[in-house]
Amino acid sequence: MRSTISIAALVAAATGALINMRDEIPSPAPPSAYAFTPPEVTGKPQPIFPAGPPGGLNDSVVPSDIPDAPKNLTGDNKVTAASCSGPVTSSPSSYWMAQMDHTGDARGYAPFLNDYYTFPVWRNVLDYGAENDGSGDQAAAIQSALNNDGRNGNRYSSGVVTAEPAHVFIPGGTYTLNTQLDLRIGTIIMGDPQNPPILKAAAGFSGGTLINGYDSATGHPETSFLTALRNVIIDTTAIDGATSIVALQWGVAQGCVLGNVKINMPSNSARHIGINLSHGSTIAVTDVHITGGAIGIQNSNQQVNFKNIYFKNCRTAYGATGGYTSLLQNVTFDTCGLGVDLTVGEADKLAGNLVLLDSTSTNSGTTVHFTESSTSGNRNNQITIQNLKHDNSNPIAVNSAGQTKLAATNFVDTWVWGNAVPGSFQSGTSHTTTRSSSLVDSGGNFFTADAPTYAGYALDQFVNVKSVSGYQVNGDGATDDSASLNAILAQAAANCKIAYFPYGVYVVKSTLFVPAGSRLVGEAWAVISGAGSTFKNVDSPQPVVKVGNLGDVGVVHISDMRLSVAEPLPGAIILQVNIAGASPGDVGIWNTPITIGGTAETTIRNVCTDQDTSSCMAAFLAVHLTSSSSAYLQNVWIWTADHNLDGGSGYTVISTGRGLLCEATKATWLVGTGSEHNWLYNYNFNSASNVFAGLLQTESPYMQGDGATYLEPAPWVAKSTYGDPDFSWCGVGDGRCRTSVSVNINGGNNMYLYNSASWAFFNGPWSGDYSNSCSGNCQVNMNRVSRTPGKLYWYGTGTKSADVLFLDGKSNPAESNNPGGWGGNMVAYGQFS
Ligand SMILES: *[C@@H]1O[C@H](CO)[C@@H](O)[C@H](O)[C@H]1NC(C)=O
Ligand SMILES: *[C@@H]1O[C@H](CO)[C@@H](O)[C@H](O)[C@H]1NC(C)=O
Ligand SMILES: *[C@@H]1O[C@H](CO)[C@@H](O)[C@H](O)[C@H]1NC(C)=O
Ligand SMILES: *[C@@H]1O[C@H](CO)[C@@H](O)[C@H](O)[C@H]1NC(C)=O
Repeated sequence: MRSTISIAALVAAATGALINMRDEIPSPAPPSAYAFTPPEVTGKPQPIFPAGPPGGLNDSVVPSDIPDAPKNLTGDNKVTAASCSGPVTSSPSSYWMAQMDHTGDARGYAPFLNDYYTFPVWRNVLDYGAENDGSGDQAAAIQSALNNDGRNGNRYSSGVVTAEPAHVFIPGGTYTLNTQLDLRIGTIIMGDPQNPPILKAAAGFSGGTLINGYDSATGHPETSFLTALRNVIIDTTAIDGATSIVALQWGVAQGCVLGNVKINMPSNSARHIGINLSHGSTIAVTDVHITGGAIGIQNSNQQVNFKNIYFKNCRTAYGATGGYTSLLQNVTFDTCGLGVDLTVGEADKLAGNLVLLDSTSTNSGTTVHFTESSTSGNRNNQITIQNLKHDNSNPIAVNSAGQTKLAATNFVDTWVWGNAVPGSFQSGTSHTTTRSSSLVDSGGNFFTADAPTYAGYALDQFVNVKSVSGYQVNGDGATDDSASLNAILAQAAANCKIAYFPYGVYVVKSTLFVPAGSRLVGEAWAVISGAGSTFKNVDSPQPVVKVGNLGDVGVVHISDMRLSVAEPLPGAIILQVNIAGASPGDVGIWNTPITIGGTAETTIRNVCTDQDTSSCMAAFLAVHLTSSSSAYLQNVWIWTADHNLDGGSGYTVISTGRGLLCEATKATWLVGTGSEHNWLYNYNFNSASNVFAGLLQTESPYMQGDGATYLEPAPWVAKSTYGDPDFSWCGVGDGRCRTSVSVNINGGNNMYLYNSASWAFFNGPWSGDYSNSCSGNCQVNMNRVSRTPGKLYWYGTGTKSADVLFLDGKSNPAESNNPGGWGGNMVAYGQFS
């Protein structure tokens, strides 16, 4: 068992820590040149309805709000029988999103800023004076685009996050930077995907970091939520290779997106680092191409699913200075000196476990260099290598004494070093993992798909949901938009148009139906927020967003949206997916967080402070992948809030019945997902088959365990129709047993799970004191397997503060026998394989 963790370390580690928020705020660096002329953004977008009250939705001030029955669409949007098979691609001269209306009535609008209508959600850095011709120093101009709060103030440390959303667009060209650029939370920073901009360090660059993704105003990296950086090229090639520089500092948290990014460093560099993920709790880093540098990625983040990372000419591609569980999925080491370095962590900060999956080493040195820590103290640096292609005579795994532990071979099926079940610690044991054909591409790799940018589509392929003739859509955080949006989505799908949601809070008091043929994309994580009596009956739960009907087959893509509840809704299933793709990736959801509390648009941030969580049963179920569905989810974070991002009460005590329920059997891919603080479980695979999961990150609710006001399943009732765990295996009064199951496997077949990160920090009650961690272990069981699944492979599990890693009725492996990482470490769990 792990020795006592210092309070400071725990606080820094706990997602949600909001301690000493003000202590860490450096004085904001005023932009030297604030001489921008942003586009004129005045007047509230029409139609005019009262803005949502600052405290969130208040039924008594919501206008009686179902709008008139929608009129039939006119002109271009008129319904015709669908003869189209999808939106039409072309070679548009400029990017559709830049061409959208960002100043008129149909623009994005942030309704929770006290009637402040001129806040610009959309920002094009050229409007802020940035030059894209490689000249001068553009740091101040780009910084002002990130900081501008539209009223001569600064979004940095303004005290709100989701109330001031921004979408910063960087057109193509070269932007020279002489000083560090600091990104801001609540912001999507997006280069033009048709012509990605280059953010280039000047030869005379001053500082150790070019782009800093961590917003220090949020306190800790673990609470630096909701920052996206996409479609950019970061370049340090003008700086001497002997000078220390980090191209991108990415110590950030859940809800962040790093995707479709290139990093170019000098290839003879001794001291450039591509990405420094030091601290933080982010869950997905996807589609990154890194050239040159001393180290491509340096990581000590709690847990990450790295996906599609191409390292070219890096001295060391990936170096771990920590990280409790890390998945390197579909990674290529191309002409790199060393693939993975697991020898550089400090003694107590070694990597817990690492899985190298579906990867390729070509023309490179040793693939994995690692310090063996199996025999002394914590068992860290546990490794699984699976489906590796390798093309030279250099060894694959070498320990720090220089001894080869896995010699060169051109293919590795599965090789394990670390705690394993059945059996015990394995020191380089080979296995075979037989994959389900429904989950893999033609090369045998688990299928993955990029988030769409729609770069190949011209503006006429899009429908702005706020500018459809005959339909009133408000996005004002108060008015029910469901009738109009339902009509618009139906017509958009029938006409093969992509539905664009400018930022807004779109309240829906009836289910929003997303039919086959739909593509939804948001600006700055536009919000769909359930509200009202439809979603309050715990005995008849209803979907807020329903994707397809049972048995449907077709295409649905959703990206850059956020789904929420405007008030406690004990009968809400926030997202229900019924539809199956005909081909992998046809149904996909990317970069779309689901938040329950904690944000500007919900009354939950003020009303949920009672330890009696029966007064705040905020949603029945966050995500339901039903039995007929087949979907790909990437970077989807389900967050039942433990604190507020936009002010309100100092802490929040919420009970969301269930996290993610998967009952799908055809094929399901979960890449870089997280599910936190949900009551009965965070993930439940109930008779599910053909599932790939790369990272399942969870935290148990902070108010459970010893001292809890309610013991599981109360205040909820376990329902067998939903496959709920009923905790019948626990003593009646055993609070440490009656705690949320991190990942519950109930029967099923062909499940391939990688890198579970299951953390418990606190016992009840919850009052926002992040220094008051539970004493000893917080809970008895972390994960659970029941009803003997047909085939279950589970690689790279980390647990924190639980007695038992897997309650399976067979081996019930304990943290005390399987130490490492943050408490428990299990690199290969094959009890049912
Ligand atoms: C809702 O608004 C009414 C009228 O402004 C006010 O009296 C009431 O206190 C508000 N309720 C909440 C929960 O904020
Ligand atoms: C809408 O179109 C349908 C079918 O063409 C028609 O029956 C209906 O009357 C129209 N409604 C309105 C409000 O024009
Ligand atoms: C990586 O980030 C951490 C802060 O999170 C910092 O202490 C460290 O110096 C960084 N590494 C480099 C090389 O800048
Ligand atoms: C793996 O990544 C490469 C880019 O490095 C990409 O071309 C390929 O499609 C990816 N394969 C899968 C299965 O995602």
